[in-house]
Amino acid sequence: MPGVIKADIAGATGYAGQELVDLLLRHPNVRINALYSTTDQPRKFSEMFPRFARRTGLLCQKLDAKKITHGESSVVFLALPHTCSMDLVPALLRAGKRVVDLGADYRLKSVPAYEKAYGVPHKDRDNLRQAVYGLPELYRQKIRKAQIVANPGCYPTACVLGLAPLVSLQEFDSVIVDAKSGVSGAGKKAVQDMLFTEVDEDFRAYKVNSHQHMPEIEQELSKLAGRRTQITFVPHLLPVKRGILETIYVGAPVRPSKVLELYRKFYTHEPFIRIREDGSFPSIKDVEGTNFCDIGVKADGSSVIVISAIDNLLKGASGQAVQNMNIMFGFPETMGLM
Ligand SMILES: NC(=O)c1ccc[n+]([C@@H]2O[C@H](COP(=O)([O-])OP(=O)(O)OC[C@H]3O[C@@H](n4cnc5c(N)ncnc54)[C@H](OP(=O)(O)O)[C@@H]3O)[C@@H](O)[C@H]2O)c1
Repeated sequence: MPGVIKADIAGATGYAGQELVDLLLRHPNVRINALYSTTDQPRKFSEMFPRFARRTGLLCQKLDAKKITHGESSVVFLALPHTCSMDLVPALLRAGKRVVDLGADYRLKSVPAYEKAYGVPHKDRDNLRQAVYGLPELYRQKIRKAQIVANPGCYPTACVLGLAPLVSLQEFDSVIVDAKSGVSGAGKKAVQDMLFTEVDEDFRAYKVNSHQHMPEIEQELSKLAGRRTQITFVPHLLPVKRGILETIYVGAPVRPSKVLELYRKFYTHEPFIRIREDGSFPSIKDVEGTNFCDIGVKADGSSVIVISAIDNLLKGASGQAVQNMNIMFGFPETMGLM
């Protein structure tokens, strides 16, 4: 196992970035080297976020690609809004850095699909080709050697993990995903729809069958199924801070007595997947603050219902990013995450 490595975090002041700081400060084999955001003046991170007082004396500074490329870190985490990463990644990779990108720029292999979903041209097709989709349960071997890992989106993590055993081993037809997320899924930017007064004690659907995560989910399910797979996807905004719960309905002729075995076998030895063996179903509270994906399943012979729950900021973002880093650098996969 290699010794201690140094890490930089770009976007450290965001919701995902703060979780990364928290996780990496506890990680026995990582020292955080530098923190970046849009701040004009360097500021003590613990003054910006007093919960980090006595845990780190690091400054947060304005994002500067040159500083990162000339710096000592072996790994750079990018927790930036989409489109920012593809401006940085070419220089980082040329400098020999290994990158875990939490944004969307390197997740979709199809450039037209990216441009349609995110409404901007893709500027780094060369590195897009070599980027590895960072879902360890499916791509662990490739992640080990990757120079750049595209950390999956939060909805896709819960959905693809919830469906992987079924779509790769069974015939199926329709897939309907009823997804719910806490408000932190949208990041910290000020948006009227996300105000406490708008969200509290309400529950609503948004981006019905048009969410930007749909092509990512379809890309991964198509690979697993070996054929083009489309889904119906309805996300909802829950009046909670964090957590995702997806109820997924699949038309598939699976015998009720066989469905648990299918999931159990597929995920044998997976440290962060917990299958409900007793026929119960997970809730958001069961996974909050953890890197687990909890899955419950039920079949009736013609359809299967899967309920999949994650913490969007951990298994859906920063926890999974640390899991990927552990794999890339040969650390035990659960290090700093249990
Ligand atoms: N939130 C989630 O649940 C979640 C889950 C999976 C993936 N992700 C992805 O992770 C990334 C970060 O998400 P988030 O929710 O943490 O977002 P966020 O709360 O909005 O934070 C964004 C971070 O990026 C920085 N930033 C914004 N524009 C920048 C620029 N032009 N140059 C340099 N830094 C810039 C911000 O700095 P300032 O503080 O100075 O503005 C902040 O540190 C996004 O790509 C998101 O899609 C998020």
